[in-house]
Amino acid sequence: MEHLISSLERLPVPPEHRQQAALAVVALGAGLTLLLFARLVASFLRGASRWLRVAVGTSTVPRAPGGGLFLGHALQLASAPCPWERMLEWARATGPLVRFNILQRTGLIVSDPQGAKRVFQTKQKLYDKDLDFSYKPFLSILGTGLVTANGAHWQKQRLLMAPALRIDMLDAIIPIAKTAVDRLCKQLEAYRGTGQPVDLEEEFRLLTLQIIGEAILSLPPDECDRVFPHLYLPVMEENNRRVLAPWRQFYPLTAIRYNSKVNQLNSYIIGIIRARRAARAANGGKPPAKPDILDRVLTAAEESGEAWTAASEVQLCYEVKTFLLAGHETSSAMLCWSFYELSQNRTALDKVRAEAAALFPNGGAGDAVPSREAVDGMDYCLAVLKEALRKYSVVPVVTRNLNADDELMGHSIPCGSWLIVHVQGIHHQYQEPLAFRPERYMPGGEYDQFPEDIRPYMFLPFIQGPRNCLGQYFALLEARVVLSVLAQRFTFTPTDPKSAGETNPIVIPVAPLNGMKMLVT
Ligand code: HEM
Ligand SMILES: *[C@@H]1O[C@H](CO)[C@@H](O)[C@H](O)[C@H]1NC(C)=O
Repeated sequence: MEHLISSLERLPVPPEHRQQAALAVVALGAGLTLLLFARLVASFLRGASRWLRVAVGTSTVPRAPGGGLFLGHALQLASAPCPWERMLEWARATGPLVRFNILQRTGLIVSDPQGAKRVFQTKQKLYDKDLDFSYKPFLSILGTGLVTANGAHWQKQRLLMAPALRIDMLDAIIPIAKTAVDRLCKQLEAYRGTGQPVDLEEEFRLLTLQIIGEAILSLPPDECDRVFPHLYLPVMEENNRRVLAPWRQFYPLTAIRYNSKVNQLNSYIIGIIRARRAARAANGGKPPAKPDILDRVLTAAEESGEAWTAASEVQLCYEVKTFLLAGHETSSAMLCWSFYELSQNRTALDKVRAEAAALFPNGGAGDAVPSREAVDGMDYCLAVLKEALRKYSVVPVVTRNLNADDELMGHSIPCGSWLIVHVQGIHHQYQEPLAFRPERYMPGGEYDQFPEDIRPYMFLPFIQGPRNCLGQYFALLEARVVLSVLAQRFTFTPTDPKSAGETNPIVIPVAPLNGMKMLVT
């Protein structure tokens, strides 16, 4: 109070009113605190009733070992170097459906292809994206975009967006990827034989951003390099931190910087959308001769017959950011792990080179590119990429919230349940799971031997079913081009093979922990 009154002395308040003003400020503060407290209590009670119902309803599911009465498995998860590895230990010790809890919240870990099939395909409509937890820190950037949409809204957006990635757009990816990897080759030449390492992770991140930036928005590469690393990457980094440290959203300075970057990114993208719509209007409503993904979505939106509103603009901005996010970090991680494994196995590298040489002669010199059909025939390169996605499980766990009661793997589980499909757990049910063997995915290989009804659920890097990755063909196509050209022109050797192979234990998509420093020859 003393302090308050003294600070009020600096304000133009007459002395006789200072006491009253101070009281008013204190009353206001107390009122706000009470309001905040009431809201916290209400949300706690809402959460508690859901979690109580789930805890009771899932009590027949075997429980992970060692959970305490109050904290549950919170300490075990927090103290684990890698949370999804800890979950896998529980699954191995307990079974393919295992229950754990963090304080009052119950989670169910599914590490079985039949279970994954039910969640992703058979009863897909019952399993919503979990927006109240895993995806929460990303909502400020992804909003109601495709990855973080649910129900009827998701269905509508999926129908609108999917045609933009059809065959003719995929054809355009090959030359875009080829020009991008040619640019990277020029940069890598500067490192060849110098003994100075290049961080391939950083290069692949910029490369995949350039490719997705050109495919969606026709952005030139220097524009991509100028805008995104500066606006987009810091936002994503903060989001990742907030997954494990949610209180960071209350750090005032961090929040101001963060919001300013998000706003700048939004105005940048909305500026592009407006310019594009203006150009179409000036062109009699027609899209340009070489439409990018944005043009295709605008065409689809027009054909839907719905009026264009401020809300349509905001939604499209979310979709563009969603594509940028979904489309580059994952692809970059897949490329990192593929090149790392190829640096450890000369036979595999030679097989990639032989297959690549047929389609990209002379290491891809010149501007000619093969057809999409030809790239689709690169079985061994595709098998290398798939094996990297299996072994490293770039998206190791995928979460869902159950929106009705269901029957899962012999247990009835209640509405509100929180599911964690352990993709890595399923991927490591192959023979000698830690060995890198592209042959698994060659025709007639280990993958083809799985029983037909579960086969698609034994390879889930893009999940399966109606909510599968919209960019999976895009990603595997661009990566085959990048792999073919780089593997032919250069030999990469990690400066420290052990360190280069270490995975980041807490950030998804799973990328190298210490970057991917490679010598180039
Ligand atoms: C190796 C590269 C990639 C991997 C491993 C990957 C993985 C995934 C996974 C696991 C999901 C499902 C997430 C969930 O259900 O919670 C997903 C969804 C999605 N991905 Fe990808 N992705 C990759 C590349 C791409 C690319 C290049 C694009 C865009 C061009 C893209 C666009 C999307 C979109 C839009 C969705 C949401 C689909 C929907 O919910 O309807 N992804 N991806
Ligand atoms: C190296 O790659 C070849 C070709 O894919 C494969 O047959 C072999 O098993 C791999 N070697 C090791 C040690 O993983």
